[in-house]
Amino acid sequence: MSITKLDVVAAVVGLYVLQRYLSQKGSTPLPPGPRGLPLIGNVADMPSKREWVTFAEWGRKWGGICSVRLMGRSMVIVNSSEIMDELDKQGAIYSDRPRLEMGGELVGYKDTLVLLPYGARFRSFRKYFSNFLGPIPMENHVLTVEHESHRFLKRVLTKPNDLMTHLRKLAGGIILKLTYGIEVQEGDDPFVDLIENANHNFSAATVPGAFLVDFFPALRQLPEWLPGMGFMKTARIWAQATADMIEVPFAFTQKNMDAGTAPPSFVLNILEEDPSLSGKGLRDLKFAASSMYGGGADTTVSAEYAFFLAMVLNSDVQKKAQAEIDSVIGNDRLPGLADRPHLPYVNAVLTEVLRWNSVAPTGVPHTAIEDGIINGYLIPKGSIIIANLWNMLHDPDTYPDPFDFNPDRHIATAGREAQRDPRHVCFGYGRRICPGMHLAEASLFCAIVMSLAVFDITKTVENGIEITPVHANTSGIISYPEPYKCTIKPRSERVVSLIAQEHNF
Ligand code: HEM
Repeated sequence: MSITKLDVVAAVVGLYVLQRYLSQKGSTPLPPGPRGLPLIGNVADMPSKREWVTFAEWGRKWGGICSVRLMGRSMVIVNSSEIMDELDKQGAIYSDRPRLEMGGELVGYKDTLVLLPYGARFRSFRKYFSNFLGPIPMENHVLTVEHESHRFLKRVLTKPNDLMTHLRKLAGGIILKLTYGIEVQEGDDPFVDLIENANHNFSAATVPGAFLVDFFPALRQLPEWLPGMGFMKTARIWAQATADMIEVPFAFTQKNMDAGTAPPSFVLNILEEDPSLSGKGLRDLKFAASSMYGGGADTTVSAEYAFFLAMVLNSDVQKKAQAEIDSVIGNDRLPGLADRPHLPYVNAVLTEVLRWNSVAPTGVPHTAIEDGIINGYLIPKGSIIIANLWNMLHDPDTYPDPFDFNPDRHIATAGREAQRDPRHVCFGYGRRICPGMHLAEASLFCAIVMSLAVFDITKTVENGIEITPVHANTSGIISYPEPYKCTIKPRSERVVSLIAQEHNF
């Protein structure tokens, strides 16, 4: 075989391009950040709780994008919403998820949407979600959201001290009804218990640093009788709970379908559209369905719990919102989702709840599928990317006095623009943006407007002393306001009968 001149030219050009690429890559720095130690990198610098506060400090020191190294892997921390917009634009590169050895592989959450690797399967899950929870299909779910919110009012009226239990039942009730056509029971509900148990395991399995196998996946191959291998037994028990969470409610819908009694739901719609679904397709549908509860329950509960706290701490805001509801709705009926366009101040309360209390302060980690460049910095393939949503939502340049609860900041008035809509931040970014955001807003709005219409939410008085709660947050991917005391009372006799009445939802 003879080498032609053309081959030589092609080889030289190829080498030149390769050299340019390598030198460019070599000269592109990693985002700045604290210096780490050899081998382990910045492991010792990592905060063990409320990591968003430390990340925000790093942001002030190193800028809107900084990075650390953990056991040889880059972790990029984004503190600015402008840089998050860049990641958003290059969504195809930055929309993968990290592999989680304990929670994902061993406990079995790796096939739920939140951990699914970017690719064809991921896209088919997302399509299921957008066909069911996009803005237009959401119209079909209004009655369910209103019906469950009304049941919530009844429970609060009966047992006003069990707010958190009622919020969990509310979020679980909406999601189970929409996903499987299951109507939750009063008191303990077997489906809620089953799913919450599995999701609780998942949260425990993903506490950073809780399981060594997350750092050393090869541990999985060692015999179980060795010391320190107890995690394998825990994983098996938790994996069974995951399997039950996936199979049991799904089987319930299938049984009702066979009997011809299944109400419309996410699962029913898809099985009716594609009755031949079997094998992998059926398995994917089960996992997609179970992803609804995992993504939608804790998040919505956290936001609603924060709303009640905001009302305890800001009675002036509460009175203003109630005055708006009274003047627009009157007191002959309960408000609903159709009233949303006519209640600008209540909408501003909702927006401010999402800003003031970060439900997912550091979002959900993404990973880079390939090398990329953001803001002049190299983001190496496989880097973990953390968006510090909490910092973006409390940036004093965007939101002056960011720790104040001030819905007025979201209403444009003569001579003043509304401040940047926090909803562009709090639901994440890129191809991973929260697929349940329209349901989240509808649920939150309904809980807010109905509660304000009928209840006064105030500080608890104990031994003659008023207790003023503090707004502090729990650590974790999903963060809650720390437990607090409040007093919830019906606003009048009239609303008590309004709550007791049957309504058309
Ligand atoms: C206030 C309520 C909610 C908030 C603040 C919220 C926020 C978020 C955030 C920040 C993410 C990560 C996005 C990213 O990776 O960049 C996410 C993902 C997700 N959310 Fe929500 N969410 C809420 C409610 C819901 C609801 C009601 C559902 C469904 C019923 C839901 C389902 C999901 C799912 C399945 C994912 C994973 C998406 C993926 O990995 O592709 N969320 N959410």
